[in-house]
Amino acid sequence: MGSELTMDKLVSLCKRRGFVFQSSEIYGGLSSAWDYGPLGVELKKNIQNIWWKEMTQMHDNIVGIDAAILMHPRVWEASGHVENFSDPMVDCKKCKTRFREDQMPEEARNTKVCPDCGGELTEPRQFNLMFSTHMGPVADDGNMVFLRPETAQGIFVNFKNVLQSSRVKIPFGIAQVGKAFRNEITTKNFIFRTCEFEQMEMQFFIHPDEDDKWFEYWKEQRWAYYTEKLGIQPDKIQWHQHGPDELAHYAKDAYDVEYEFPFGWSELEGVHNRTDFDLSRHSEYCGKPINYLEEETKERFTPYVIETSAGLTRTVLTVLSDAYEEQNLGTDAKGKDDIRTVMHFHPNLAPIMVAVFPLVKKDGLAELAKKIETELRSDFTTFYDQSGAIGRRYRRMDEIGTPYCITVDYDSKEDDTVTLRYRDSMEQVRVKVEDLAATIRKGIKDYKRV
Ligand code: GAP
Repeated sequence: MGSELTMDKLVSLCKRRGFVFQSSEIYGGLSSAWDYGPLGVELKKNIQNIWWKEMTQMHDNIVGIDAAILMHPRVWEASGHVENFSDPMVDCKKCKTRFREDQMPEEARNTKVCPDCGGELTEPRQFNLMFSTHMGPVADDGNMVFLRPETAQGIFVNFKNVLQSSRVKIPFGIAQVGKAFRNEITTKNFIFRTCEFEQMEMQFFIHPDEDDKWFEYWKEQRWAYYTEKLGIQPDKIQWHQHGPDELAHYAKDAYDVEYEFPFGWSELEGVHNRTDFDLSRHSEYCGKPINYLEEETKERFTPYVIETSAGLTRTVLTVLSDAYEEQNLGTDAKGKDDIRTVMHFHPNLAPIMVAVFPLVKKDGLAELAKKIETELRSDFTTFYDQSGAIGRRYRRMDEIGTPYCITVDYDSKEDDTVTLRYRDSMEQVRVKVEDLAATIRKGIKDYKRV
């Protein structure tokens, strides 16, 4: 039930409730850059923590690192980004708008006419997506550095450091979460494609003969992560295998996890077989061997890499889109449609897990509710609210996806029970105060979206 989600509705809810704001809004905004507000930062951190736990805690052969954003410029020559990381761009000679040629409407591409003003278009030119800057006081070519366009290279250049310091053995992985930067031209669709974004990447180092097996393994793992850990609706995600013309310069095979966003199916994560491309290239460019010695067989080889590369900020958009629902609950007392906007976040992702309300402020109910909220704080992210009608307080929590609301009323003073309300079903049950934490914990463990 309910009407369809549009990006406008989502952007509006995100601003209204403090998930995502336009960057530098008071100056008119900076296009393609966004700030995460009080609820957005909690949502983003929860996604990041679940990913990190999934990789490092749930796999005993994956360790983490946190590499610098600025790296030696030779890294990007070795990785192929200086040479290959570009998009074909065309400019309109009349209105000066720049377009990615491969994303222009078919007609504009064939007729070479600007889709905005009808002006003449230039021939396509390759435009490198890396942002560059200068390190130190003098801006010359000798001290040019790039803002990393992917976190992966920080992992490859640390392969030997991790191997020597962590006693890991192949197969093993290195995980990292961090910012990446790309000078994207097409940046519509909110936080989907931005110039500054965050990635969650894991490089899994394997024997070259085992690449198909591990590729399948990671595809299965990543599917389960989205549907079970993040609670994404399975009919809203799909696999897309890259054709020969889509494969990145380093990839032998690549599958994208795609999500059905309000603007259509688009990439959320890539699972890539990067072969030994990166380690071999870094070995060649730094002039030192980068390989692995299998102790038992004494075989020395350059490992292959299966990469799982997810956008953290893009996952935020996925989770927001997937959670959104407008429900028509019938007509209210004034004869108007009663629309409930509810965000069905998985409880582990919800910025606020438990809200506690006194039915009224007086007669000691506020004090009792505050006490209960304080006691729950060490286990859950909580929120206390005593203003407005109780129905409105529930609706405010529905709109930000709080899965559990607790209301303290006059009976609570007599029998130590409270009302526990479930967000999805709106069901209300009476629970003893001493059983609250355990009941909520069970609810989180058994959560199924309804
Ligand atoms: N290391 C491999 C790599 O970076 P990619 O397919 O270019 O592969 C991986 O990027 C993921 O990073 C994408 O699936 C997407 O989720 C995210 N991503 C890439 N460019 C982005 C951008 N401009 N804005 C937001 N997220 C982006």
